[in-house]
Amino acid sequence: PDLFQPERVNSKGFDLHHTPTLDKIDAARDAFRAHHWYAQPLLSGDASPEQDQPVTNPAQPQDRPGAIAPASTEDVELALNSAAPWQAPPAERSRILNTAADLYEAHFGELFALLAREAGKSLPDAVAELREAVDFLRYYAANIPDAEPAGVFTCISPWNFPLAIFTGQISAALATGNAVLAKPAPQTPLISHRAVQLLQEAGVPRDVLQLLPGGPSVGAALTSDPRVSGVAFTGSTATALKIRAAMADNLRPGTPLIAETGGLNAMIVDSTALPEQAVQSIIESAFQSAGQRCSALRCLYVQEDIADDLLTMLTGAMQALQVGDPWLISTDCGPVIDETARQGIADHVSNARVEGRVLKDTPIPPEGTFIAPTLIEIPGISALKREIFGPVLHVVRFKASEIDQVIADINATGYGLTFGLHTRIDDRVQHITEAVHAGNIYVNRNQIGAIVGSQPFGGEGLSGTGPKAGGPNYMTRFCAPDRQQSDE
Ligand code: NAD
Ligand code: ALA
Repeated sequence: PDLFQPERVNSKGFDLHHTPTLDKIDAARDAFRAHHWYAQPLLSGDASPEQDQPVTNPAQPQDRPGAIAPASTEDVELALNSAAPWQAPPAERSRILNTAADLYEAHFGELFALLAREAGKSLPDAVAELREAVDFLRYYAANIPDAEPAGVFTCISPWNFPLAIFTGQISAALATGNAVLAKPAPQTPLISHRAVQLLQEAGVPRDVLQLLPGGPSVGAALTSDPRVSGVAFTGSTATALKIRAAMADNLRPGTPLIAETGGLNAMIVDSTALPEQAVQSIIESAFQSAGQRCSALRCLYVQEDIADDLLTMLTGAMQALQVGDPWLISTDCGPVIDETARQGIADHVSNARVEGRVLKDTPIPPEGTFIAPTLIEIPGISALKREIFGPVLHVVRFKASEIDQVIADINATGYGLTFGLHTRIDDRVQHITEAVHAGNIYVNRNQIGAIVGSQPFGGEGLSGTGPKAGGPNYMTRFCAPDRQQSDE
């Protein structure tokens, strides 16, 4: 194999501190402020409006960015019957995926509008998401393994990265020559429909990439049919376990399942940490994207010597967070995705309030599915029985002598997605980062985000199967079995 990867650079994105750039983005987005999109199964011909379901804007209940025609049983059958692996040679697949990346970038205004109105994404989040999607397309296009494709790949994605993760899964599957049956999350079908249109405009054949919008029943049908040769899934651990069981019952033994799932992510801040740096990292890790990132910080361990001072700074910084319409550049924290999510998180906060554990929350808009950034004191991470997927941070005080117990408690959750550490002692960095089980570890910075090609992303234990997305081994799992590697 070549020692050096083909030349490729990650997307530059947009400088949101540059006023002319912001003006350009605003002008491009404004054309889609009232646009109505439509998502339907791509091979099923005409829409049947009586089946349509509205898609709502989580920040503004009266805004309907579009509608979805969910895939029927017949649509799934048609897609499975007609799915055909991509016959084009690797160089042609690579060229087409690069063209798709260019098209994504050219349509930035529409994609940012969709990310705000359908997924509640702030502009900085939308810019990062488009960059990551484009980077996945170009990275996988530049690194196609010399191997046969698995065949027909089902790709099931979540709503919290409806463009980046959706695109990452399908571009890896397509680059390796598979046919793809893509099922986006039911909350965010519109942007995935638009992405598939752009991929097809770039040259991906219609029978090679098919979109099947809908909910769990569509996903279940696409993961239990023997015509499927592999599944790439990103979403909750609970759903991954259901998919694994359905595949075991119905698909060939050894059929690959790439599952990227949830986490109970912790950060340790010791008494040597720089407080300003730690507080900024905590705010970004816990509240950016309204805490709706798999990587987000859920449980902060603060050494007791500095806890009062650090929590005073932290609650002060929380007070300054602007919660509101993600379309506005001044917004730090947008809505959570829908009313079901809002209610689940609100119940958790209410219980903590009854127990007297809420240290801080902040004002929220009266309409839309908003949750106030909230800080809750708990005795330890084992008090968290599930991933609270929103802007809620839990804090635990620990004594220096308890550090090994803290590490043991973090590992005992069984998850292993991200972990953050703030300390100025090098030996401690080495000891703690070697002892904590997590796929991605971040030291003296925030603990969200990843960089395609240089910082692959993925978890261990209950957080994922590997190989990491955006890394050198990911695509091998999309190849016929004799070429697969189990992990990196
Ligand atoms: P989810 O598990 O509810 O749904 C994910 C997808 O699975 C959706 O498309 C859904 O329709 C589909 N689905 C649901 N039931 C199914 C079934 N029985 N068979 C097949 N498909 C089914 O997750 P979500 O709420 O959309 O996303 C949030 C979760 O995703 C969080 O747990 C988060 O941590 C995780 N996540 C992980 C990563 C990662 O890289 N590890 C990245 C983003 C999100
Ligand atoms: N890479 C994504 C994040 O960091 C999943 O949140």
